[in-house]
Formats: sequence, C-alpha cells, structure tokens
Amino acid sequence: MFYKTEQNNHGLSHDPFKAIVTPRPIGWIGSIDINGVPNLAPYSYFNAISDNPYFVVFGSINYKDSIKNCEENKDFTCSLVSENLFNAMNNSSATVESDVDEFNISGLKKENGRIVNAPFVKGCSAALECQHWKTIDLPGSDRTTGQGSFIIIAHVVGIYIDDKYIINGRFDTASVRPLGRLGYMDYGVIGKKNIFSKNRPKVNQHGNLKDVDDWDGIYR
Ligand SMILES: Cc1cc2nc3c(=O)[nH]c(=O)nc-3n(C[C@H](O)[C@H](O)[C@H](O)COP(=O)(O)O)c2cc1C
Repeated sequence: MFYKTEQNNHGLSHDPFKAIVTPRPIGWIGSIDINGVPNLAPYSYFNAISDNPYFVVFGSINYKDSIKNCEENKDFTCSLVSENLFNAMNNSSATVESDVDEFNISGLKKENGRIVNAPFVKGCSAALECQHWKTIDLPGSDRTTGQGSFIIIAHVVGIYIDDKYIINGRFDTASVRPLGRLGYMDYGVIGKKNIFSKNRPKVNQHGNLKDVDDWDGIYR
C-alpha cells in the first residue's frame, strides 16, 4: 500500500506512522516552572541528534508544560526509562494542572541536576542534563492557541550514570533494560536476548563488500 499523508487516507483502523518509526527512546523530561513547581513527563518524539557536541531533541504535540518550562527556565533533564520504571513513567503522563508535581503523583523521588536547575528521577540508570538551544515551531503551529508541534533542540551539558550499570567500562544496556515506545499502546524492552554486535563492513581490493563479521572487540 501507499498513501499520501496530506489526506491521511491509509484506510487502516489506526494511523500506522508511530508503529513504523520504532522503537523510539523515551525522554522523561524533568523541568521546573517559573514558580519553582517541578514537572515530569515522558516524550517519545525524543532522540540524540549529535555527540559532538552532545545534543538531543524532543517534540511536543501542542504546547505542553514541558515545552513552556524548558523555554522559560532553559534547563531540563532527560531520565532514561527502564522496564522497572514503566508504571511510574506511564503515571507521569497523566493530564494534570500545571501546578501539580508529577514526581509526587507517580511516587518518585527527585535528584537535583548537578549543573542544571532541574530535577531528574532518583533511581534511573542515567540522566542527561540539558540546556535549551532552540525551539522550532513546525508548519501550522500556532502559539496563540497552543495547537501544533513544537520541537526543542538542547545541548547536553552533563550526564549522570548510576555506577552499577557500568560494567567492564561500558554502560551496560543489557542490564539497564531500556524501554522503547512502539506504535499504538505497545512498548518493547531491550535486553540481553535482543542485543547483537557486528563489525562495520569492509571492502576487498576489488571494491566488493566482504562478509560482515561478528564484532572483534575493536571500536570503529
Ligand atoms: C510513552 C509516552 C510517550 C509520550 N510521548 C509524547 C511525545 O513525544 N510528545 C507529546 O506531545 N506527548 C507525548 N506523550 C504524552 C505526554 O507525556 C502527556 O501529554 C503529558 O501530560 C505532558 O505533560 P506536560 O504538559 O507536563 O509536558 C507521551 C506519553 C507516553 C506515555
């Protein structure tokens, strides 16, 4: 099948877009508002976009509290969501008034950012401390109504890692068991069983690709 997104006439019972672009990492955005009220919400329109310098992006459908706080206060955090934090993460997505602290309603404790003025989730395996760089209002967005799509691009200025997840000098994804957001109401977990390591491809003297080997332990 093929469909043009302008009419969105996919003919399916649910829009497949989010099920196609999967798995998406979940940025659990911790921020504070201008009155000092902490805020926490999961965003799966989230990803790392550079490691030199370190930058992340997250996107809000309609102008939500996290976007407002990040624009006003500049500082925010992204806690990594692992399997054991699923319920708290899901609870923190509840639609509540902006003066409600979602850390509290989700039964979570806070840890203060070392560099930024924003809390992250105590007990998470890793958290990025970020500073707002730019907001992009996607076409059709309207700040007067708050309708549309607002994208924040931010500089990662500090990284917290729980030392117990550093094994043999590596951040051990297998034991962290990060959650990925799939389409519909689905989630996936990255664990030991679905991680594999491969070398980058090599070309022989005739310019043809050689078979790709299992990873030989050298980073390229
Ligand atoms: C796993 C998950 C991922 C989500 N991803 C997004 C997202 O990328 N963009 C968005 O606008 N809302 C997303 N939401 C919904 C927000 O978390 C929800 O609207 C929340 O109330 C926003 O809180 P805030 O107003 O404090 O920022 C997601 C919810 C869940 C459970």
